[in-house]
Amino acid sequence: MRRAGLVVADTLSAVRAMARPGMTTAELDRVAADSIRAAGATPSFLGYHGYPATVCVSVNEEVVHGIPGSRVLLEGDVVSVDCGAIVDGWHGDSALTFVLGAADPADEALSRLTERAMWAGIAALAAADRVGAVGDAVEEVVETAEASVNGGRPYGIVQEYVGHGIGQSMHEPPEVLNYRTRDRGARVRPGLCVAVEPMITRGARFTQVLADDWTVVTDDGGRASHWEHTVAVLEGGLWVLTEHDGGAARLAELGVGVAALD
Ligand code: MF3
Ligand code: CO
Repeated sequence: MRRAGLVVADTLSAVRAMARPGMTTAELDRVAADSIRAAGATPSFLGYHGYPATVCVSVNEEVVHGIPGSRVLLEGDVVSVDCGAIVDGWHGDSALTFVLGAADPADEALSRLTERAMWAGIAALAAADRVGAVGDAVEEVVETAEASVNGGRPYGIVQEYVGHGIGQSMHEPPEVLNYRTRDRGARVRPGLCVAVEPMITRGARFTQVLADDWTVVTDDGGRASHWEHTVAVLEGGLWVLTEHDGGAARLAELGVGVAALD
């Protein structure tokens, strides 16, 4: 899973580095496809329940599952890219958001907030006995976020889509919610691998699916961000499989160490 995770990490880096205003989302998909194939890995999204592309590219009010195509990216667009790959039957899954060119500070803040919420959710796994700790941590970060840059509006946490177990399939039990519930969720123990993936909006949390049957958009047209990592819970601690350093740098800031993985 580490090998699959690093293919995904490198592919997302390549897509982000290539992205420019004037490019189409299909061109980003081709960058990802070339990167995954060059690494000798297999894209996991292509053909998944009939999904027609290698990555999901979700722009502005699109939350997740945007299908790459003829859409031309513009300066200031909020671009979320979600990527999955398989190596020797094992899966990696990760997503990130960036703003193209000159960003509206509110959009940049949205992406930073979502990324921070993801890391808080990951860090929570270190001491958690149930996966519900992830949702507690994500909601805590979002709820206490400085909203002045968002015109004083509270942020929304999307509830219809959640994180998941991952291994020899992309989606396995347990579900990993991004919000607090009374149900504490599945037990956290060594060997558990999960994708932690908060989706945060600049407005209400509600979503709709477009007529293409894939693209998820916010109901109110507010822009959205999506960040995701695949994380392993090991005897000695956590290891973020879709980061080259296992998440060491980001988790250290949160007072969490990573397991030695070699
Ligand atoms: N990678 C997404 C997730 O984070 C799922 C993508 S759906 C697909 O769970 F159809 F594009 F594969
Ligand atoms: Co996922």
